[in-house]
Amino acid sequence: MTQDEMKQAVARAALDYIKGGLKDDSIVGVGTGSTANFFIDELATIKHQFEAAVASSEATAERLRAHGIPVYDLNAVAGLDTYVDGADEFDAGLSLVKGGGGALTREKIVAAASKEFVCIVDASKQVPVLGAFPLPVEVIPMARSLVARELVRLGGQPELREGFVTDNGNLILDVYNLEIREPRAFEAELNNIVGVVTNGLFARRGADVVLMGTREGVETIK
Ligand code: A5P
Repeated sequence: MTQDEMKQAVARAALDYIKGGLKDDSIVGVGTGSTANFFIDELATIKHQFEAAVASSEATAERLRAHGIPVYDLNAVAGLDTYVDGADEFDAGLSLVKGGGGALTREKIVAAASKEFVCIVDASKQVPVLGAFPLPVEVIPMARSLVARELVRLGGQPELREGFVTDNGNLILDVYNLEIREPRAFEAELNNIVGVVTNGLFARRGADVVLMGTREGVETIK
C-alpha cells in the first residue's frame, strides 16, 4: 500500500465513522491538507445527506465548493458536531502537531468549535515525542523577529517559511530542534508570547480519535 492509498483508506474510514451521525441539517467541519482532500472527495459521495461544511482554509473551501458542497462561515453556525482533519504528528496522548500546510489558526478555531475531532493520518505521523516535525507558529508580521528571539530562548530554532503568507495575512515560523514532552504546557507557553497568533500544537484540544492508515488496514486509536 502506498502512502496515498493509506490516506485514501483513512478518508473512507472517516466517512464511515461520521456518516451514521449525520442528519439533514448537519454541518461538517473540514480540515486542510492532502489527507483532508481525500476526505473531501469521500464526503462528496454523500453530499445530499448533510446540509453544509465549514472549511479550515480557502483551499478546502474551494475544493468543497467544486464538489457542490455548500460552505458556511463559522459565525453563521451555532457549533459543529464533527471536525475531520489530518496532522503532521500525533503522540500517545492524541496531542498533535499541525500546520504543515499553514492553516493552523483556522484549523484550531474549527476544532475548538466542534464536539468531536476525528484525526486522519497515515502511519508515518505516529511519534513517541512530538517535535521532530518543525512546529509551525503563526505570527503577526511586525513581531516576527521578537517572536523568533523568544522561540530561541525556549530552545527552538525558528525559520521563516519563505514566500508564504497565511489566509489571515500573517507569517509562519517553523520551529526546529524541539522535543515536546509536555505538549499542553508548551502550547500555553507559546500562546503567551506577544505577537503569536497561534501555534501548531493541538494539545489542550487534541484529537478525540485518530484513524491511522497502516499497511494492514485502518487502526482506531482513542
Ligand atoms: C494543514 O495546515 C495541516 O495542519 C495538515 O492538517 C497537516 O499538515 C497534514 O497534512 P497532510 O494530510 O497533507 O499530511
